[in-house]
Amino acid sequence: MIKTIIWKNNTVVLIDQRALPLAERYVACKSYKEVISAIKDLTVRGAPAIGVAAAMAAALGALHLPSLSPKIFQRKLFAICDEIAQARPTARNLFWALERMKKCFDQTKHLSQRALVDKLVHEAKHICSEDIEINRQMGKYGSPLLADGDNILTHCNAGALATAGYGTALGVIRAAHEQGNKLHVYVDETRPVLQGARLTAWELKKEKIPFTLITDNMAGFLMQQGKIDKIIVGADRIAANGDTANKIGTYSLAVLAQAHRIPFYVAAPLSTIDVSLKTGAAIPIEERKNEEVTHFKGIRGAPAGTKVYNPAFDITPAKYITAIITEKGILTKPYRASIARMHKGEKLS
Ligand code: MRU
Repeated sequence: MIKTIIWKNNTVVLIDQRALPLAERYVACKSYKEVISAIKDLTVRGAPAIGVAAAMAAALGALHLPSLSPKIFQRKLFAICDEIAQARPTARNLFWALERMKKCFDQTKHLSQRALVDKLVHEAKHICSEDIEINRQMGKYGSPLLADGDNILTHCNAGALATAGYGTALGVIRAAHEQGNKLHVYVDETRPVLQGARLTAWELKKEKIPFTLITDNMAGFLMQQGKIDKIIVGADRIAANGDTANKIGTYSLAVLAQAHRIPFYVAAPLSTIDVSLKTGAAIPIEERKNEEVTHFKGIRGAPAGTKVYNPAFDITPAKYITAIITEKGILTKPYRASIARMHKGEKLS
Protein backbone atom coordinates (compact mmCIF):
# COMPACT_ATOMS: atom_id res chain seq x y z
CA MET A 1 0.00 0.00 0.00
CA ILE A 2 1.17 3.55 -0.76
CA LYS A 3 2.29 5.24 2.48
CA THR A 4 1.69 8.96 2.18
CA ILE A 5 2.54 9.97 5.71
CA ILE A 6 3.91 8.12 8.69
CA TRP A 7 5.07 8.95 12.18
CA LYS A 8 8.43 7.27 12.77
CA ASN A 9 10.86 7.86 15.65
CA ASN A 10 9.33 11.25 16.46
CA THR A 11 9.65 12.33 12.83
CA VAL A 12 6.92 12.93 10.25
CA VAL A 13 7.90 11.09 7.08
CA LEU A 14 6.16 12.23 3.89
CA ILE A 15 6.31 10.87 0.38
CA ASP A 16 7.53 13.86 -1.64
CA GLN A 17 4.62 14.53 -3.98
CA ARG A 18 6.59 17.23 -5.81
CA ALA A 19 9.02 14.62 -7.06
CA LEU A 20 6.46 12.08 -8.32
CA PRO A 21 6.28 10.37 -10.75
CA LEU A 22 9.96 10.82 -11.64
CA ALA A 23 11.31 9.88 -8.21
CA GLU A 24 9.86 8.07 -5.19
CA ARG A 25 11.59 9.84 -2.34
CA TYR A 26 10.68 10.74 1.22
CA VAL A 27 11.05 13.90 3.28
CA ALA A 28 11.63 13.60 7.03
CA CYS A 29 10.24 16.51 9.07
CA LYS A 30 11.69 16.82 12.55
CA SER A 31 9.93 20.06 13.53
CA TYR A 32 6.41 21.42 13.14
CA LYS A 33 7.81 24.27 11.06
CA GLU A 34 9.16 21.75 8.53
CA VAL A 35 5.71 20.18 8.27
CA ILE A 36 4.18 23.63 7.68
CA SER A 37 6.66 24.18 4.82
CA ALA A 38 5.81 20.75 3.40
CA ILE A 39 2.09 21.63 3.39
CA LYS A 40 2.76 25.01 1.79
CA ASP A 41 5.02 23.72 -0.98
CA LEU A 42 2.77 20.69 -1.78
CA THR A 43 5.22 18.03 -0.59
CA VAL A 44 2.04 16.81 1.11
CA ARG A 45 -1.31 17.83 -0.40
CA GLY A 46 -4.92 16.72 -0.66
CA ALA A 47 -7.41 17.68 2.04
CA PRO A 48 -7.32 14.57 4.30
CA ALA A 49 -3.52 14.24 4.01
CA ILE A 50 -3.14 17.91 4.95
CA GLY A 51 -5.32 17.21 8.01
CA VAL A 52 -3.16 14.27 9.11
CA ALA A 53 0.03 16.29 8.51
CA ALA A 54 -1.38 19.19 10.57
CA ALA A 55 -2.22 16.88 13.50
CA MET A 56 1.29 15.38 13.39
CA ALA A 57 2.81 18.87 13.17
CA ALA A 58 0.95 19.85 16.37
CA ALA A 59 2.21 16.67 18.06
CA LEU A 60 5.79 17.45 16.96
CA GLY A 61 5.41 21.00 18.28
CA ALA A 62 4.24 19.70 21.67
CA LEU A 63 7.04 17.16 21.77
CA HIS A 64 9.74 19.80 21.42
CA LEU A 65 8.40 22.26 23.99
CA PRO A 66 10.60 22.53 27.09
CA SER A 67 9.16 21.68 30.49
CA LEU A 68 6.61 24.43 31.22
CA SER A 69 3.85 25.34 33.63
CA PRO A 70 0.49 23.88 32.44
CA LYS A 71 -0.77 27.36 31.53
CA ILE A 72 2.26 28.31 29.43
CA PHE A 73 2.33 24.85 27.81
CA GLN A 74 -1.27 25.34 26.68
CA ARG A 75 -0.57 28.87 25.42
CA LYS A 76 2.47 27.70 23.43
CA LEU A 77 0.70 24.63 22.03
CA PHE A 78 -2.31 26.65 20.88
CA ALA A 79 0.02 29.24 19.30
CA ILE A 80 1.71 26.42 17.38
CA CYS A 81 -1.73 25.21 16.22
CA ASP A 82 -2.58 28.76 15.07
CA GLU A 83 0.65 28.87 13.08
CA ILE A 84 -0.10 25.49 11.44
CA ALA A 85 -3.61 26.76 10.57
CA GLN A 86 -2.01 29.41 8.34
CA ALA A 87 -0.41 26.79 6.05
CA ARG A 88 -3.26 26.59 3.51
CA PRO A 89 -6.74 28.15 3.68
CA THR A 90 -9.21 25.97 1.78
CA ALA A 91 -9.11 22.35 3.01
CA ARG A 92 -11.46 22.04 5.99
CA ASN A 93 -9.55 18.96 7.21
CA LEU A 94 -6.59 21.10 8.28
CA PHE A 95 -8.72 23.06 10.77
CA TRP A 96 -10.73 19.99 11.76
CA ALA A 97 -7.54 18.10 12.68
CA LEU A 98 -6.22 21.00 14.76
CA GLU A 99 -9.56 21.21 16.58
CA ARG A 100 -9.23 17.48 17.34
CA MET A 101 -5.75 18.03 18.75
CA LYS A 102 -6.96 20.93 20.93
CA LYS A 103 -9.86 18.79 22.15
CA CYS A 104 -7.41 15.99 22.99
CA PHE A 105 -5.40 18.53 24.98
CA ASP A 106 -8.52 19.72 26.84
CA GLN A 107 -9.45 16.16 27.80
CA THR A 108 -5.98 15.31 29.10
CA LYS A 109 -4.70 18.60 30.51
CA HIS A 110 -4.79 17.23 34.08
CA LEU A 111 -1.89 14.91 33.15
CA SER A 112 1.84 15.62 33.45
CA GLN A 113 3.36 17.36 30.42
CA ARG A 114 5.11 14.15 29.40
CA ALA A 115 1.92 12.06 29.56
CA LEU A 116 0.01 14.80 27.77
CA VAL A 117 2.51 14.88 24.89
CA ASP A 118 2.19 11.09 24.61
CA LYS A 119 -1.57 11.50 24.31
CA LEU A 120 -1.16 14.14 21.58
CA VAL A 121 1.23 11.93 19.62
CA HIS A 122 -1.19 9.03 20.00
CA GLU A 123 -4.09 11.19 18.80
CA ALA A 124 -2.17 12.32 15.70
CA LYS A 125 -1.30 8.70 14.85
CA HIS A 126 -4.91 7.75 15.44
CA ILE A 127 -6.18 10.47 13.06
CA CYS A 128 -3.83 8.94 10.47
CA SER A 129 -4.94 5.29 10.83
CA GLU A 130 -8.59 6.30 11.18
CA ASP A 131 -8.39 8.13 7.84
CA ILE A 132 -7.54 4.91 5.99
CA GLU A 133 -10.50 3.14 7.61
CA ILE A 134 -12.80 6.07 6.70
CA ASN A 135 -11.67 5.84 3.06
CA ARG A 136 -12.41 2.11 2.98
CA GLN A 137 -15.91 2.84 4.31
CA MET A 138 -16.40 5.41 1.55
CA GLY A 139 -15.29 2.76 -0.90
CA LYS A 140 -17.87 0.36 0.54
CA TYR A 141 -20.73 2.88 0.19
CA GLY A 142 -19.59 4.40 -3.11
CA SER A 143 -18.57 1.34 -5.13
CA PRO A 144 -22.18 0.19 -5.85
CA LEU A 145 -22.65 3.49 -7.74
CA LEU A 146 -20.11 2.30 -10.32
CA ALA A 147 -21.02 -0.44 -12.80
CA ASP A 148 -18.91 -3.05 -14.54
CA GLY A 149 -17.55 -1.55 -17.76
CA ASP A 150 -17.93 2.09 -16.67
CA ASN A 151 -15.68 4.81 -18.03
CA ILE A 152 -15.08 7.20 -15.15
CA LEU A 153 -13.61 10.68 -15.26
CA THR A 154 -11.69 12.06 -12.29
CA HIS A 155 -9.96 15.38 -11.64
CA CYS A 156 -6.87 16.21 -9.58
CA ASN A 157 -5.70 13.50 -7.19
CA ALA A 158 -8.14 12.20 -4.59
CA GLY A 159 -6.24 8.97 -4.07
CA ALA A 160 -3.96 7.38 -1.49
CA LEU A 161 -1.56 10.30 -1.92
CA ALA A 162 -4.25 12.83 -0.98
CA THR A 163 -5.11 10.92 2.21
CA ALA A 164 -3.34 8.72 4.74
CA GLY A 165 -3.95 5.90 2.25
CA TYR A 166 -6.52 4.33 -0.14
CA GLY A 167 -8.16 7.59 -1.20
CA THR A 168 -11.60 9.19 -1.38
CA ALA A 169 -12.75 9.43 -5.03
CA LEU A 170 -9.98 7.08 -6.11
CA GLY A 171 -10.78 4.90 -3.08
CA VAL A 172 -14.29 4.37 -4.46
CA ILE A 173 -12.79 3.42 -7.84
CA ARG A 174 -10.25 1.19 -6.07
CA ALA A 175 -13.01 -0.57 -4.09
CA ALA A 176 -15.09 -1.22 -7.24
CA HIS A 177 -11.95 -2.54 -8.97
CA GLU A 178 -11.17 -4.83 -6.00
CA GLN A 179 -14.71 -6.21 -6.29
CA GLY A 180 -13.89 -7.32 -9.83
CA ASN A 181 -15.58 -4.53 -11.81
CA LYS A 182 -13.79 -3.71 -15.03
CA LEU A 183 -13.43 0.04 -14.95
CA HIS A 184 -11.55 2.47 -17.11
CA VAL A 185 -10.57 5.88 -15.76
CA TYR A 186 -10.07 9.07 -17.74
CA VAL A 187 -7.59 11.20 -15.79
CA ASP A 188 -7.69 14.99 -16.19
CA GLU A 189 -4.09 16.20 -16.15
CA THR A 190 -5.23 19.03 -13.81
CA ARG A 191 -3.44 22.24 -14.67
CA PRO A 192 -1.47 24.00 -13.38
CA VAL A 193 0.19 21.59 -10.90
CA LEU A 194 -0.68 18.37 -12.79
CA GLN A 195 -1.90 16.33 -9.81
CA GLY A 196 -3.82 14.17 -12.32
CA ALA A 197 -0.96 13.47 -14.74
CA ARG A 198 1.72 13.12 -12.08
CA LEU A 199 -0.09 11.54 -9.13
CA THR A 200 -3.39 9.93 -10.16
CA ALA A 201 -1.77 8.31 -13.22
CA TRP A 202 1.09 7.07 -10.98
CA GLU A 203 -1.36 5.52 -8.51
CA LEU A 204 -3.58 3.90 -11.14
CA LYS A 205 -0.55 2.46 -12.92
CA LYS A 206 0.69 0.97 -9.64
CA GLU A 207 -2.78 -0.52 -8.99
CA LYS A 208 -3.08 -1.81 -12.57
CA ILE A 209 -6.39 0.02 -13.06
CA PRO A 210 -6.72 0.89 -16.78
CA PHE A 211 -6.62 4.64 -17.45
CA THR A 212 -6.19 7.23 -20.17
CA LEU A 213 -4.70 10.67 -19.54
CA ILE A 214 -6.40 13.72 -21.09
CA THR A 215 -5.78 17.44 -20.83
CA ASP A 216 -8.44 19.34 -18.89
CA ASN A 217 -9.86 21.04 -21.97
CA MET A 218 -10.66 17.66 -23.59
CA ALA A 219 -13.20 16.57 -20.97
CA GLY A 220 -16.23 18.27 -22.57
CA PHE A 221 -15.55 16.72 -25.96
CA LEU A 222 -15.29 13.25 -24.40
CA MET A 223 -18.63 13.75 -22.66
CA GLN A 224 -20.19 14.85 -25.96
CA GLN A 225 -18.80 11.71 -27.61
CA GLY A 226 -20.47 9.52 -24.97
CA LYS A 227 -17.12 8.33 -23.62
CA ILE A 228 -17.81 9.17 -19.96
CA ASP A 229 -20.37 7.27 -17.86
CA LYS A 230 -19.70 8.86 -14.47
CA ILE A 231 -17.56 11.54 -12.86
CA ILE A 232 -16.15 11.25 -9.37
CA VAL A 233 -14.01 13.82 -7.56
CA GLY A 234 -12.85 14.61 -4.02
CA ALA A 235 -13.46 17.79 -2.02
CA ASP A 236 -11.53 20.32 0.01
CA ARG A 237 -14.48 21.84 1.82
CA ILE A 238 -18.23 21.26 1.65
CA ALA A 239 -20.61 23.95 2.96
CA ALA A 240 -23.80 23.12 4.91
CA ASN A 241 -25.86 23.28 1.70
CA GLY A 242 -23.59 20.86 -0.21
CA ASP A 243 -21.70 23.50 -2.27
CA THR A 244 -18.26 21.97 -2.75
CA ALA A 245 -14.77 23.44 -3.09
CA ASN A 246 -12.39 21.23 -5.03
CA LYS A 247 -9.45 21.62 -7.39
CA ILE A 248 -9.88 24.37 -9.98
CA GLY A 249 -11.67 22.91 -13.01
CA THR A 250 -14.14 20.82 -11.01
CA TYR A 251 -16.99 23.32 -11.51
CA SER A 252 -16.65 23.23 -15.31
CA LEU A 253 -16.82 19.42 -15.22
CA ALA A 254 -19.99 19.51 -13.09
CA VAL A 255 -21.78 21.92 -15.44
CA LEU A 256 -20.74 19.85 -18.46
CA ALA A 257 -21.88 16.69 -16.68
CA GLN A 258 -25.34 18.14 -16.20
CA ALA A 259 -25.54 19.21 -19.86
CA HIS A 260 -24.71 15.61 -20.86
CA ARG A 261 -26.79 13.93 -18.13
CA ILE A 262 -23.75 12.27 -16.59
CA PRO A 263 -23.85 11.51 -12.82
CA PHE A 264 -21.41 13.73 -10.93
CA TYR A 265 -20.28 12.35 -7.54
CA VAL A 266 -18.21 13.89 -4.75
CA ALA A 267 -16.46 11.56 -2.28
CA ALA A 268 -15.33 13.13 0.99
CA PRO A 269 -15.04 12.31 4.70
CA LEU A 270 -17.27 14.10 7.21
CA SER A 271 -14.19 16.06 8.32
CA THR A 272 -14.42 17.96 5.00
CA ILE A 273 -17.95 19.21 5.72
CA ASP A 274 -18.05 22.65 7.30
CA VAL A 275 -21.53 23.23 8.68
CA SER A 276 -20.49 26.64 9.97
CA LEU A 277 -20.58 27.91 6.37
CA LYS A 278 -24.06 28.27 4.94
CA THR A 279 -23.01 28.20 1.28
CA GLY A 280 -19.92 27.78 -0.86
CA ALA A 281 -19.61 31.57 -1.25
CA ALA A 282 -18.06 31.66 2.25
CA ILE A 283 -15.33 29.09 1.49
CA PRO A 284 -11.90 30.77 1.33
CA ILE A 285 -10.21 30.08 -1.99
CA GLU A 286 -6.43 29.89 -2.02
CA GLU A 287 -4.54 31.82 -4.69
CA ARG A 288 -1.13 30.38 -5.48
CA LYS A 289 1.98 31.85 -7.02
CA ASN A 290 2.15 33.01 -10.66
CA GLU A 291 4.99 30.65 -11.54
CA GLU A 292 2.65 27.65 -11.31
CA VAL A 293 0.94 29.05 -14.42
CA THR A 294 3.78 30.76 -16.26
CA HIS A 295 6.43 28.06 -15.75
CA PHE A 296 6.80 24.29 -15.97
CA LYS A 297 9.69 22.78 -13.99
CA GLY A 298 11.47 26.14 -14.03
CA ILE A 299 10.98 26.72 -17.77
CA ARG A 300 9.00 29.80 -18.68
CA GLY A 301 6.03 29.24 -21.00
CA ALA A 302 4.68 32.81 -21.02
CA PRO A 303 6.30 36.22 -21.65
CA ALA A 304 8.10 37.74 -18.66
CA GLY A 305 5.82 40.00 -16.65
CA THR A 306 2.61 38.25 -17.79
CA LYS A 307 -0.28 39.01 -15.46
CA VAL A 308 -1.64 35.84 -13.85
CA TYR A 309 -4.69 34.82 -11.84
CA ASN A 310 -4.19 31.45 -10.14
CA PRO A 311 -7.04 30.33 -7.86
CA ALA A 312 -6.28 26.77 -6.70
CA PHE A 313 -9.92 25.76 -6.13
CA ASP A 314 -13.41 26.50 -7.40
CA ILE A 315 -16.90 26.03 -5.99
CA THR A 316 -19.35 23.57 -7.49
CA PRO A 317 -22.91 24.52 -6.54
CA ALA A 318 -24.76 21.67 -4.84
CA LYS A 319 -27.39 21.53 -7.61
CA TYR A 320 -24.82 19.97 -9.96
CA ILE A 321 -23.81 17.21 -7.53
CA THR A 322 -25.71 13.93 -7.93
CA ALA A 323 -24.62 12.58 -4.52
CA ILE A 324 -21.93 12.99 -1.88
CA ILE A 325 -20.28 9.76 -0.73
CA THR A 326 -19.17 9.77 2.92
CA GLU A 327 -17.99 7.15 5.40
CA LYS A 328 -21.47 7.13 6.96
CA GLY A 329 -23.39 6.65 3.71
CA ILE A 330 -24.58 8.58 0.68
CA LEU A 331 -25.85 12.15 1.04
CA THR A 332 -28.50 13.22 -1.47
CA LYS A 333 -30.38 16.44 -2.25
CA PRO A 334 -31.44 18.54 -0.50
CA TYR A 335 -27.99 18.40 1.09
CA ARG A 336 -28.75 20.81 3.92
CA ALA A 337 -31.32 18.33 5.23
CA SER A 338 -29.26 15.17 4.61
CA ILE A 339 -26.14 16.71 6.19
CA ALA A 340 -28.23 17.75 9.23
CA ARG A 341 -29.72 14.21 9.45
CA MET A 342 -26.26 12.71 9.30
CA HIS A 343 -25.05 15.01 12.09
CA LYS A 344 -27.93 13.79 14.24
CA GLY A 345 -26.68 10.24 13.64
CA GLU A 346 -29.70 9.21 11.54
CA LYS A 347 -29.15 6.42 9.03
CA LEU A 348 -28.39 7.46 5.44
CA SER A 349 -29.00 5.42 2.28
O1 MRU B 1 -3.96 21.66 -4.16
P1 MRU B 1 -4.19 20.24 -3.76
O2 MRU B 1 -3.42 19.26 -4.57
O3 MRU B 1 -4.03 20.03 -2.27
O4 MRU B 1 -5.73 19.99 -4.10
C1 MRU B 1 -6.29 18.73 -3.81
C2 MRU B 1 -7.68 18.57 -4.29
O5 MRU B 1 -8.29 19.47 -4.81
C3 MRU B 1 -8.31 17.24 -4.04
O6 MRU B 1 -9.23 16.94 -5.04
C4 MRU B 1 -9.03 17.28 -2.69
O7 MRU B 1 -8.18 17.70 -1.67
C5 MRU B 1 -9.62 15.99 -2.33
S1 MRU B 1 -8.38 14.86 -1.82
C6 MRU B 1 -9.06 13.45 -1.25
